[in-house]
Amino acid sequence: MLASPRVSTRTVVHPAARLRGSLRLPGDKSITHRALILGALAKGESHVYGGSDGLDCNSTAGVLEALGVSIERLGAPDGGRVDRVVRSPGRQGWCEPAGVLDAGNSGTTLRLMSGVLAGTPMYAVLDGDASLRGRPVARIIEPLRRMGATLHARAADTLPPLTIVGRSSLSAIVHRTPVPSAQVKSAVLLAGLSARGVVEVREAVATRDHTERMLRARGIDVREGPADGEWVIRMEDGGSVQPRDERVPGDISAAAFWLVAGAAHRDAELTLETVGVNPTRRAIVDLLRQMGARIREEPLVTDGTEPMATLTVSTSELRAIDLGPGDVARAIDEIPALCLAAACARGITHIRGAGELRRKESDRIAGIAGGLAALGARVAVDGDDLTIEGRPDLPAFGLAGAAVQAHDDHRLAMLFAVAGLLADGETAIDDAASVAVSYPGFLTDLERVRA
Ligand code: S3P
Repeated sequence: MLASPRVSTRTVVHPAARLRGSLRLPGDKSITHRALILGALAKGESHVYGGSDGLDCNSTAGVLEALGVSIERLGAPDGGRVDRVVRSPGRQGWCEPAGVLDAGNSGTTLRLMSGVLAGTPMYAVLDGDASLRGRPVARIIEPLRRMGATLHARAADTLPPLTIVGRSSLSAIVHRTPVPSAQVKSAVLLAGLSARGVVEVREAVATRDHTERMLRARGIDVREGPADGEWVIRMEDGGSVQPRDERVPGDISAAAFWLVAGAAHRDAELTLETVGVNPTRRAIVDLLRQMGARIREEPLVTDGTEPMATLTVSTSELRAIDLGPGDVARAIDEIPALCLAAACARGITHIRGAGELRRKESDRIAGIAGGLAALGARVAVDGDDLTIEGRPDLPAFGLAGAAVQAHDDHRLAMLFAVAGLLADGETAIDDAASVAVSYPGFLTDLERVRA
């Protein structure tokens, strides 16, 4: 529902003596959004197997339904995963929405659908909850206007609601993203489906490439590679997307919390099944390994567009690490979890150039620092840099249960819940219900892994 305040909830987490178990994670949120959107653009039927049943992906489904696309759920959701079938008349058969399109809490719905609607000849307004109304949109308005669509937003074209008058024929552009952002890149590529000529996106760091892979698998000519010190994505002549089924891997951004829990906890072994390990998403696995985490990876054979593996993590001696802006961009959604690993690691971890974290579902730099400090961790913030000193020699890493604020942000809620498994005493998290945005079964899994 638009801008409705969520009812505040309080969740109490107790320390775990041991962590054991095998978890089937929710379907990857990024891939599910794209599978639904591309299914809706294509004329015909596309199945999305094991997709995320989180609130964010349901927001994308709701927006597409308001455009006249049918999205049927097949069977009951299972552990944050649901099968859906998308039936669409194709973009030409969509209807102009009668009301405001509700993206809820989902920045991905807002940005990706802006690109789609820029290339669709109709009037549409995208809005969402109070958090979404604080998310920057100038970064998508600028390139989409250059392509020929008309977009306006509140606060001098910087914040939602966002009004879009799209066109069936857009201009091809070269767009250099001012900050690395897969959402902005995807908005331009999705708009580019309505353009003739070469649409090019240039990034300082290669961000998640699900849109590129999935467009290619649906018949669109998209290529990418390094050029002149940048990562360049080129799409030739847009075109019509073909219907295709998608098998969605487990969400590595959800897995991140268990990887940290399993590596930091003093008696742990956790197995994470069928996790997506796309090279542009797996930075958290590699960074945690650099910190000394014992993570075993067994690749799975897949027939889909995304690589998957079973990951097993066990108790490890963690060491501090230095992260720069490139690492932050590659692990943007996993930095909250990594900060907890830093609080349990020997030495001082520096995370530099993390400003984008302030523009997520909440100001995550402030939220991470505030919550971890309340639990007794040594955290300092200097501008957009974070410094965390771990204390592995202390019982419970010097962490003691306290009341912490998740600021209605799913990743902060999961961070503090996992911290609560490691801390001494009782950790009380406000707004933990927000975990349903990406991981509806998170609190159940949290209880399941206590042996
Ligand atoms: C996403 C891209 C990232 C990420 C978000 C999902 C995507 O955002 O934080 O959770 O699916 O493209 P930015 O591209 O804005 O950094």
